[in-house]
Amino acid sequence: MQAVTILGSTGSIGVSTLNVLAQHPDKYRVVALTANHSVDSLYEQCQQFQPDIAVMLDVPSADLLATKLKTAGLRTQVLSGARALEQVAASDGTDYVVAAIVGAAGLLPTLAAARAGKKILLANKEALVMSGGLFMREVEANGATLLPVDSEHNAIWQCLPVGKQQQYHYDGKGVRRIMLTASGGPFRDFDLADLEHVTPEQAVAHPNWSMGQKISVDSATMMNKGLEVIEAHWLFGLPSQKIDVVLHRQSIIHSMVDYVDGSVLAQMGNPDMRTPIANALAWPERIDSGVEPLDLISVGRLDFAAADHQHFPCLRLAYQALDAGGTSTAILNAANEVAVAAFLKKQIKFTEIPRTIENVLSRMTPNDGATIEQILADDTQARVLAKEFIK
Ligand SMILES: NC(=O)c1ccc[n+]([C@@H]2O[C@H](COP(=O)([O-])OP(=O)(O)OC[C@H]3O[C@@H](n4cnc5c(N)ncnc54)[C@H](OP(=O)(O)O)[C@@H]3O)[C@@H](O)[C@H]2O)c1
Repeated sequence: MQAVTILGSTGSIGVSTLNVLAQHPDKYRVVALTANHSVDSLYEQCQQFQPDIAVMLDVPSADLLATKLKTAGLRTQVLSGARALEQVAASDGTDYVVAAIVGAAGLLPTLAAARAGKKILLANKEALVMSGGLFMREVEANGATLLPVDSEHNAIWQCLPVGKQQQYHYDGKGVRRIMLTASGGPFRDFDLADLEHVTPEQAVAHPNWSMGQKISVDSATMMNKGLEVIEAHWLFGLPSQKIDVVLHRQSIIHSMVDYVDGSVLAQMGNPDMRTPIANALAWPERIDSGVEPLDLISVGRLDFAAADHQHFPCLRLAYQALDAGGTSTAILNAANEVAVAAFLKKQIKFTEIPRTIENVLSRMTPNDGATIEQILADDTQARVLAKEFIK
């Protein structure tokens, strides 16, 4: 029996993970679940999976959950606050930690799991975007295992030579480049002028994937793909010049590795996060995920196109931040989080998301990002500047 902790169990990735785990009660036991303030969802998950511990970031929500669990006669212990998230991530009682908190809030608990040498199913891309160098050093120094859950990185992982997946300084020998596929989101066919008027409701309605709100907006701006380029750089040790983005509207190929001998290996499947989750959980074995088999006949065709940096300025900004190095990518991420939240509250237009990020990047001098304090300080300053610009 492997013990599993899910950070962010009430979100889209958290729910998909529990769905996979429920199919294998003989292999996995859920020991801890966490959320921010979704009391009812976490309560239902505690009823079904009976974890030892449930954590809520929000203290009043934790009190409410504790009362509900006690009334129902359930023995799950309830903790609250940010330190409790780190505590369960590093606990001796867990083998796997699923990092599925959205945004910068996921960094410290995921880092705690790395420092405790856990097997980390990494969905939260912000940990690598904010602190890539430092995070990878902690993974290596503490014997942690990173198992990519982001579908593109999981696809690359599956297409790399056997035995190379766990070499974080893989020199890319034999690899010409990797190609991250992108659906292009809901606005891929819109004219640039029309993007001025798109609404949050339109932006969160992704054509192929069902995801949380923040990542759905990031998919519409293609910042999500930009964050994935940065994530791929750290996971696979490749320079930005060897990481390409290809538009592929059907989301059937989840990414590809282009080798120097002319071979291109692709991983395919229906767009359902349970596939990469099951792959990462069972690696190097395979388990059922519950995902429908891919029917290529009904898919019919696979289309590809170049990703236009003018149409998707967030993608350009992400490459620029990666090349600038240090805390530039943490600054990019923080400004984006503030801008996306403002867009969802209808305080700014869709096209003002990249404008906000570009403004913040131009006003800050990044540092080398060698310590977590430096990273968090630049994250905080970028948020202040982004809010100021939006105002
Ligand atoms: N969804 C996908 O298909 C997908 C694919 C690849 C990668 N990812 C990555 O996976 C991560 C999770 O995405 P998601 O779509 O699952 O997000 P989501 O649906 O918004 O869920 C986020 C989870 O994190 C919790 N949370 C939110 N803010 C928190 C905070 N400040 N402190 C502690 N917990 C907090 C939420 O709890 P409440 O419910 O209480 O708010 C929820 O459990 C993101 O980094 C995303 O980029 C997602």
